Amino acid sequence: MIGDWISFGYLFSAVLFIFGLKKLGHPRTAPQGNQLGAMGMLVAVLTTVAEMQLGDGIEGWILIGSGLLLGSLIGLYMAIRVEMTGMPEMVALFNGFGGAASALVALSESWKYIESDELLLPTGLELEVVVVAAGLSALVGWMTLTGSLLAMLKLKGGVEIFGKWIRTPTWGPAWLNPIKALLFLSVLVLIYVSINDPLNSDYLYAIIGISSLLGVLLVLPIGGADMPVVVSLLNSLSGIAAAFTGFIIGNSVLIVAGSLVGASGLILTFIMCKAMNRELKDVLFKSFGGSEKEQVTRTKVGSDADEVAMMVDGAQKIIIIPGYGMAVSQCQHQVKEFADLVSEKFDTEVKYAIHPVAGRMPGHMNVLLAEANVPYDQLIEMDEINPELPEADIALVIGANDTCNPAARTDQGPLAGMPIIDADLANTVVIIKRSLSVGYAGVDNDLFYMDKTMMLFGDGKKMMNELNSAIKEL
Ligand code: TAP
Repeated sequence: MIGDWISFGYLFSAVLFIFGLKKLGHPRTAPQGNQLGAMGMLVAVLTTVAEMQLGDGIEGWILIGSGLLLGSLIGLYMAIRVEMTGMPEMVALFNGFGGAASALVALSESWKYIESDELLLPTGLELEVVVVAAGLSALVGWMTLTGSLLAMLKLKGGVEIFGKWIRTPTWGPAWLNPIKALLFLSVLVLIYVSINDPLNSDYLYAIIGISSLLGVLLVLPIGGADMPVVVSLLNSLSGIAAAFTGFIIGNSVLIVAGSLVGASGLILTFIMCKAMNRELKDVLFKSFGGSEKEQVTRTKVGSDADEVAMMVDGAQKIIIIPGYGMAVSQCQHQVKEFADLVSEKFDTEVKYAIHPVAGRMPGHMNVLLAEANVPYDQLIEMDEINPELPEADIALVIGANDTCNPAARTDQGPLAGMPIIDADLANTVVIIKRSLSVGYAGVDNDLFYMDKTMMLFGDGKKMMNELNSAIKEL
């Protein structure tokens, strides 16, 4: 009877995860999806604790309680503190934590066997299954941990600490690929030999060491615009590591939740690859960007808000292209105010061009613009809006750079082949950013220097406020 309730608890949490995932598919329902997922995790944790207590009984209540409390407090603190623009780093860090948690559980289980000098297998499992699952969990878990930490550094902190080198894929020589393959194969061989000698801890430490190195080598050459792909792949790997760990400790909900994260992360990885016009194997093994163009020093005279306002006055169609800078300056409300102003005052048609990797996380622009109550039907995906750009009077680029950089149409540099918003095809281009500096991928942008481009230099919010005031005064 009690066993039935435990199974029901696991089933209920799995159902919550699945419905949560479904709701995450649309910005409007995503917050609810998030809450369902969190509830699913709470049910899973409580059910696991109940199962342990009703089984052999829990000895380390204080340890478990402190872990739960500390983890919850740290999670709460980070969730409250994090800026929207810091989300990718936090996701990368959490992916790493997920991988580490799985790898540590697998390690503690393996230690249990090694310390006790005997094999106390979870009921119904063959020795081979447990050893292979422990080895794979260690491989994927440690690789995810070190890879995610490096990804996090690359996404932010590392740019300051290690300079441009860590952000752009300037170090990914071709000879690194055979080394990665060799390391990967050696882990598989170690897992295989440990089946016959499961109580030998040397194999385990070798697997941990090699897997950690593999994570670093895998992420090191990836940079430029391809980080979204690697972050979602690491997310998928953290789920796979959890699923392997579920096998080792015989916990069904961990297998279900891990598989869901693994599968959805993989789907997102392929969506990202499609958005970047990349093959996953190319992202992982063909370092983009070695031939990055040398940055040249060019100048461009800036325009002012009054000048741009006069231009806007005659426009029948304006396409707004938001990017990371809009997120940094948090000017989405001013952008919405601009759209309302021009459509009311000049009867101008306004649409928003949404690039799939604009900003720093999937759906970043949609979330920000939804927060400012921009109607969803004005947010047009890249493929759909591009044919409309040649007929737009103004392309208003707000803090976007890589996602509208014509260098992507060439076959050189980190952006090579990435689809972009065709801002350069509009009759006039207005760009709001603080300087002529490069975007995330570190590639100079010819769009800034075109004759038809007007640069409004300054912080996004400040410039949008100035522009809106200038329009009101017309
Ligand atoms: P980016 O290429 O990152 O360029 C953003 C621009 O915003 C910068 O050039 C910066 O120029 C400007 N900016 C920064 N702060 C500003 C402020 N306060 N006010 C006004 N402008 C400001 O932007 P993007 O076009 O959105 O492209 C996104 C890039 O990030 C892509 O390369 C993508 O692959 C990568 N990425 C995306 C994701 C996801 S999933 N979306 C995840 C990781 C990486 P100034 O310094 O001159 O102002």
